[in-house]
Amino acid sequence: MKVQIKSGFLFPTQFWTAELNENIERLQNEACLIRKNDNDGVRKSNAGFEGYHSKDILDFNNLPGTKQLLNQIINTVNAIHRISRQGDLQLTNFWINISGKGSSNTPHTHSGMTYSGVFFIKVPKEMKGGRFLFYRNFNEADFISTEYMGRFKDGYQLQGYDYPINTILPKENMLVVFPAWVPHAVEINLSDEERISLSFNFKLNRSFP
Ligand SMILES: [Fe+2]
Repeated sequence: MKVQIKSGFLFPTQFWTAELNENIERLQNEACLIRKNDNDGVRKSNAGFEGYHSKDILDFNNLPGTKQLLNQIINTVNAIHRISRQGDLQLTNFWINISGKGSSNTPHTHSGMTYSGVFFIKVPKEMKGGRFLFYRNFNEADFISTEYMGRFKDGYQLQGYDYPINTILPKENMLVVFPAWVPHAVEINLSDEERISLSFNFKLNRSFP
């Protein structure tokens, strides 16, 4: 007797993108100013000698473009949240990354937060590497998991769910938002030009009776 096999999906993960209309040149200049005023920055997921990660930005002194961008991000992430949920969000922290040639961000999550995201301020004209990566699961990092699952059959057409990593091609003025628990990383920037982005976290405002 031939059994009928049914396939299903367990947990699709949502993410959101939005095209903003910010003055990108002004943001690039402000990012350089942030680095100038806080040259040491911090070491987090940024890897490579030319990878700069600012401290959390705490005020908008001389950063009018960044202030406007953050207001737009607050509006957009709240709109995303309100599609399906109640409650208010609070912007917890934000920082900038300036990635020179050879630098990357290793896989990590922002656990304890609600939403995380990134906005692309500068993308090298001839982008080599530097793609934004989403991982389904840290334990599944091998690209096609052949070591555990076996090689794909010859001629098999790979489906979206066969890939444990999803890539986003960065674009200037593009906002990407995702649940904070989703593992993500940035590929090594192989271009001569710097890649600049602003990252942020939002948390649900919990009110206790
Ligand atoms: Fe991150």
